Amino acid sequence: MADIGVIGGSGFYSFLSDAKPVVVDTPFGAPSEPPVVGDLDGREVAFIPRHGADHRFPPHRVNYRANLWALRSLGVRQVLGPCAVGSLKPELTPGTFVVPDQYVDRTWGRAHTVYDESPVVHTSAADPYCPVGRSTVIATGKVVPEGTMVVINGPRFSTRAESRWHAAQGWSVVGMTGAPEASIARELALCYTSIAVVTDHDAGVETGGGVTQAEVFQAFEHSIERLRSLVTDVISQLPKTDADCSCRHVLDGTAAEDVW
Ligand code: ADE
Repeated sequence: MADIGVIGGSGFYSFLSDAKPVVVDTPFGAPSEPPVVGDLDGREVAFIPRHGADHRFPPHRVNYRANLWALRSLGVRQVLGPCAVGSLKPELTPGTFVVPDQYVDRTWGRAHTVYDESPVVHTSAADPYCPVGRSTVIATGKVVPEGTMVVINGPRFSTRAESRWHAAQGWSVVGMTGAPEASIARELALCYTSIAVVTDHDAGVETGGGVTQAEVFQAFEHSIERLRSLVTDVISQLPKTDADCSCRHVLDGTAAEDVW
């Protein structure tokens, strides 16, 4: 069992001691990899590499439902979702960590709900992230404490026109995996906190040749040590008790109220 889940890059494998893979069955098929469960400073943490251990799943093929279901069935209540993003603002430079408070979902064609059949379940997404998780990350003082993340379908990066349009909306960062990860977590009454790691300036705020995969991967690698340390700090600070967080009440009054 575990109470905290991390869905992130495969660089996190090494941060748990005594980590053991646990095969979990879900109604949506297999997660990106069997979660590994291990100890981090006395907390039981489950980790899933979002894109698979060998990075074989592009953002639109990640089985977001299975990943979150697997964590939930291991007992996880708090999920941290670090992800790479491009910056839409000159002042958000590569290496910056942003804790989004909102997202705009521009993805399409992804399996985006666990409530696909009768009975109908509608969940509030007004404040899509966990207030407890966000304030714990913000309290480290190592992050930009707000921002809107626009999530594109990928796997291509934005055109300059798309990117300029995203920036003109006042949105802060652009990524490919933040949705439907956040909304599915919410559907399972999980607390979910995004930690967006800026790897590049997106095409609309850059005068050069646009973003490349190599640039993104290299910049993410560059930040991984700081990110691991941030996530470790956050995990040690997350409340141990099952806080009466608003995320736990998302299903109140719906047909799924008693499921979790
Ligand atoms: N992930 C990292 N950089 C990105 C960008 N510029 N656009 C979309 N996703 C990204």
